[in-house]
Amino acid sequence: MHPGLPEGLFMKQEDDAKTNHTEMDAEHKVQIGLIQALEQSLQQGRGRSDISSILNQLVEYTNIHFMSEQLLMRLHAYPDIGGHEMEHDHLIEQLRKVEDGFVAGDSEMTASEITMLKRLVVDHIKTHDQTFAKYLAKPKDMVLAG
Ligand SMILES: [Fe+2]
Ligand SMILES: [Fe+2]
Repeated sequence: MHPGLPEGLFMKQEDDAKTNHTEMDAEHKVQIGLIQALEQSLQQGRGRSDISSILNQLVEYTNIHFMSEQLLMRLHAYPDIGGHEMEHDHLIEQLRKVEDGFVAGDSEMTASEITMLKRLVVDHIKTHDQTFAKYLAKPKDMVLAG
């Protein structure tokens, strides 16, 4: 936990977004942590290069995380893989749009932009990821029996 972060808020977001799948939860913690770092760098008035470096880490890490979820979906023959992948594509597109706009210098990073990114990521975890995690937690013979 970084000093100065609103700890209660951070914990609450993490609790709401729990999937109870160990690896997914660990990766989501990094994802949300990078968004918190972005928030903090803005609050501290850090320079553009610092902010764009964190933004880039968030985009790259999210991309890797999505690939790892998609691999897991294939391994477990997840029925809604198409819908979930489409949401990943949409989310990455939004993240890249914010990053490209910032790097091109035609926009300042704003608190409301970071709030929007956080909402997109947390909403995805609370819907698609939690549904997928529930599927993974189901005993396989129950899945086969329908
Ligand atoms: Fe996820
Ligand atoms: Fe996902």
